[in-house]
Amino acid sequence: MFDVEKIRAEFPIFKRKVNGNNLVYFDSGATSQKPEAVIEAMNRYYRETNANIHRGVYEMSAESTRLVDEARADVAGFIGGRSEEVIFTRNTSESINLVAYAWGEENISKGDAVVITKLEHHSNMIPWQELCRRKEAELRVVEIDSQGRLVESCEKKIFEENGLKVVIGGWKELLDSKVKMVAFTGQSNVLGTIIPVEETVKTVRKLSPSSVILVDGAQMVPHMSVDVVKQGIDFLAFSGHKMCGPTGVGVLWGRKEILNKMKPFLFGGDMVGEVKLTGATWASLPSKFEAGTPDIAGIVGMGTAVNYLKRIGMDEIQKHEKSLLEYALEKMEGLENEGVVSLYGPKDEMRGGAVAFNVIGVHSHDTAQILDNYGVAVRSGQHCAAPLVESFGVTSMVRATFYLYNTKEEIDYMIRKILEVPKVFI
Ligand SMILES: Cc1ncc(COP(=O)(O)O)c(C=O)c1O
Repeated sequence: MFDVEKIRAEFPIFKRKVNGNNLVYFDSGATSQKPEAVIEAMNRYYRETNANIHRGVYEMSAESTRLVDEARADVAGFIGGRSEEVIFTRNTSESINLVAYAWGEENISKGDAVVITKLEHHSNMIPWQELCRRKEAELRVVEIDSQGRLVESCEKKIFEENGLKVVIGGWKELLDSKVKMVAFTGQSNVLGTIIPVEETVKTVRKLSPSSVILVDGAQMVPHMSVDVVKQGIDFLAFSGHKMCGPTGVGVLWGRKEILNKMKPFLFGGDMVGEVKLTGATWASLPSKFEAGTPDIAGIVGMGTAVNYLKRIGMDEIQKHEKSLLEYALEKMEGLENEGVVSLYGPKDEMRGGAVAFNVIGVHSHDTAQILDNYGVAVRSGQHCAAPLVESFGVTSMVRATFYLYNTKEEIDYMIRKILEVPKVFI
């Protein structure tokens, strides 16, 4: 049974005070808090095992190697992939950059097109902008409606700036045989919009059959069950720190057949087969893409985090977040009707635990600062998604994001404190 109080007790951070108040942490979209199990696993690693992997024949090195192998298998199992297809990176951003370079340099040419969406975090936008500019390829952007949902069809807009041709339209206008990469987020980090992956993949495969599909899973993998095989995708990028794991460890999952054909992204130790003064051959997967010493303790923490989430159950976590979201939206819509806030984002089922808003007449940073005085941590600004935020006619938004350890009482508390915000400015 999902017991939020029991879960909260496993996160030591909730013992602390912020500005004399209990911490209400509504910024898990930026990074999640860590349970004792993850902190302890990393601590134990440094205290009892610490040795480099793959390099020593002695016991502690073999133990370290085994811990990394186990974590890799656990992460692979968590997303329905195979161990050798899991590449440890630093974060989602690095995982996407890896694909944009190692795959993009070889597979995108002049006249090709890359499709992204207007919902993308800068991490899944700028690597493709830069690739398209380098290759004289077209960047196509799927438009959103007034609720922040991707549109099937709309009037096409085309413009060119700084050597990059951008085409904005609906899926129907943008998908064709020129498209070689479709990269989209599983869930918007700002509005919570969920993109149905399986359904989208089917459309892409039909209209752009030679395209490769990458899903930015930074906001998806921490919040719902994922099965890369069932979803039929080619690449999945995500970050450990948003799913109860440590900062410094990300994952790129890729389909073995595609990864095998790609050249390495970084060169150095541990990623080679045979080395001569004139060159080298590459190790097999996943080492080929993991040059140098990885964040071993972080990987151990990441493995522990996925096992922790698995133990609680991703479906249970998603259900809990859904109930928090519905509760928060109902309360926030009340504030909207009273003229206190403007709300952004979908009003349907396809939405994860994120509430984006502005207190009318108050800058988002001011709102966030006032809420912080009461111990409520929310994000404000552009959320690394400037084109998305600006498309709502504002320069910034406040964002509250929920995770497994949040409660309805915390939402009630935030609502009461939001009502304090306009008073400061009267
Ligand atoms: C949807 C999405 N993509 C990518 C990222 C980048 O993640 P990271 O900073 O861990 O690389 C984030 C982080 O907020 C995100 O929300």
